[in-house]
Amino acid sequence: MYSEKVIDHFSNPRNVGEIENPSGVGTVGNAKCGDIMRMYLDIDDNGIIQEAKFKTFGCGAAVATSSMATELVKGKTVEEALKVTNKAVMEALDGLPPVKVHCSLLAEEAIHAALWDYAEKHDLKIEGLQKPVNDISEHEEDIAEEY
Ligand code: FES
Repeated sequence: MYSEKVIDHFSNPRNVGEIENPSGVGTVGNAKCGDIMRMYLDIDDNGIIQEAKFKTFGCGAAVATSSMATELVKGKTVEEALKVTNKAVMEALDGLPPVKVHCSLLAEEAIHAALWDYAEKHDLKIEGLQKPVNDISEHEEDIAEEY
């Protein structure tokens, strides 16, 4: 039911932890399942993400998607990181079972929340970035329509 990549990133998650004095940090949760994800980003003066770390209190798919999301955003510009959607994270993991799709949305929204925090702290406007939500369960119906 889970791909080898999901199992690998769940059993051996990359980039777990915190960044001291991060450029941006964001926390999002899903009130329905109770899972919470926090994403830390270290972004240099050129707007390149040098480091990404996460802490996830959640299901295995949430851990695997956070792990993959941090891997995908590292080395990217802020604008490129914005394009790391939950779909991109799922594809990089060779898919997720339909009931676990919402877990990948937590990863996407956690990246957005950290980028939002970065933009606010640095008084920047990131084109295309919308104010993140604290509780992604509000979005679940939109996702259900997509998949
Ligand atoms: Fe809620 Fe996975 S079950 S994030």
